[in-house]
Amino acid sequence: MVSDLAALEERTLSNIGAADSEAALEEVRLAALGKKGEISELLKGLGRMTPDERREFGPALNGLRDRVQGALTERREALADAAINARLAAEAVDVTLPVRPSTLARGRIHPISQVIDEVTAIFSDMGFAIAEGPDVETDHYNFTALNFPEGHPAREMHDTFFFKPGADGRRKVLRTHTSPVQVRTMERQAPPIRIVIPGKTYRQDSDATHSPMFHQLEGLVIDRSANIANMMWVLQEFCRAFFEVPQVQMRFRPSFFPFTEPSMEVDIQCDRSRPGEVRFGEGTDFMEILGCGMVHPNVLCASGLDPDVYQGFAWGMGIDRIAMLKYGMPDLRAFFDADVRWLEHYGFRPLDIPTLFGGLSS
Ligand code: DAH
Repeated sequence: MVSDLAALEERTLSNIGAADSEAALEEVRLAALGKKGEISELLKGLGRMTPDERREFGPALNGLRDRVQGALTERREALADAAINARLAAEAVDVTLPVRPSTLARGRIHPISQVIDEVTAIFSDMGFAIAEGPDVETDHYNFTALNFPEGHPAREMHDTFFFKPGADGRRKVLRTHTSPVQVRTMERQAPPIRIVIPGKTYRQDSDATHSPMFHQLEGLVIDRSANIANMMWVLQEFCRAFFEVPQVQMRFRPSFFPFTEPSMEVDIQCDRSRPGEVRFGEGTDFMEILGCGMVHPNVLCASGLDPDVYQGFAWGMGIDRIAMLKYGMPDLRAFFDADVRWLEHYGFRPLDIPTLFGGLSS
């Protein structure tokens, strides 16, 4: 009898060892210890035995049951561990892999947008507001109200894109400069006026430094006493802040624009002695960067202001040009090629918003 038990134990333990899933193990358990299991049946048989038989057989049988139960528990734990380890291996993440850059990190701000933001930050700090106007402009706002007489050669200087005549026989134009927004603003808003006007402008012109669509920044200050000294200070402060240098010499040269009197062109000090490099605020060279002047009385009149009461100054400059100068970009045409490799190199990170206190271009 006892040798039968030994055989039963050996078989059961080997079945337990061979069970490779929880379900297979449960089958082995039922076959041994279930209601009708082999060991359970033997245990039931104890009651029918004589006391002597029971004394010999009982402990042997109980010992067998305990060992089988122990082996089942051990095997169950081993199977559970193996399952977890297999899952861990399958779902392993290599935390040393480089993170794929997010779209926010990959996107770039175009240098023109960046420079418009920088310029806006500088003039906002000086108390200027931003104004805008339409790209498709009437001849009146683009020329006549700005004191370009009909047939005046200055109109030709602008290489204008004209539309076909409308129902009224008049031809609209793609604005050749941002100056028409001066007039639109003066018509709408009573002085004092302090505005800057960033925007797209258009002329029939195309080479390494000219594009048929380009960007200008216009400025306008109108009140009862705004004068040339104020204008020189504003422009000087702007150049210092924009080019991020402590001092910059400027040269105001007499010039001509129909809408200003007197008119001036402004050069700023630079050093061009190193090939392929321009440094501002150093050296003995000068480079032209903008036009300016006192707003012509005819323009004030055309805008509904009394030139005996109000006066002011205005300026205009090429945003693309100052962007090229500041960031060392040699060819204007690349601005509009939409080449992502160029943008990757010259573009700015979207969350680095230019402010005067945070650093304009840092
Ligand atoms: N509108 C001029 C141009 O496009 C630039 C300009 C010059 C604007 C002098 C002004 C100014 O406001 O005062 O060539």
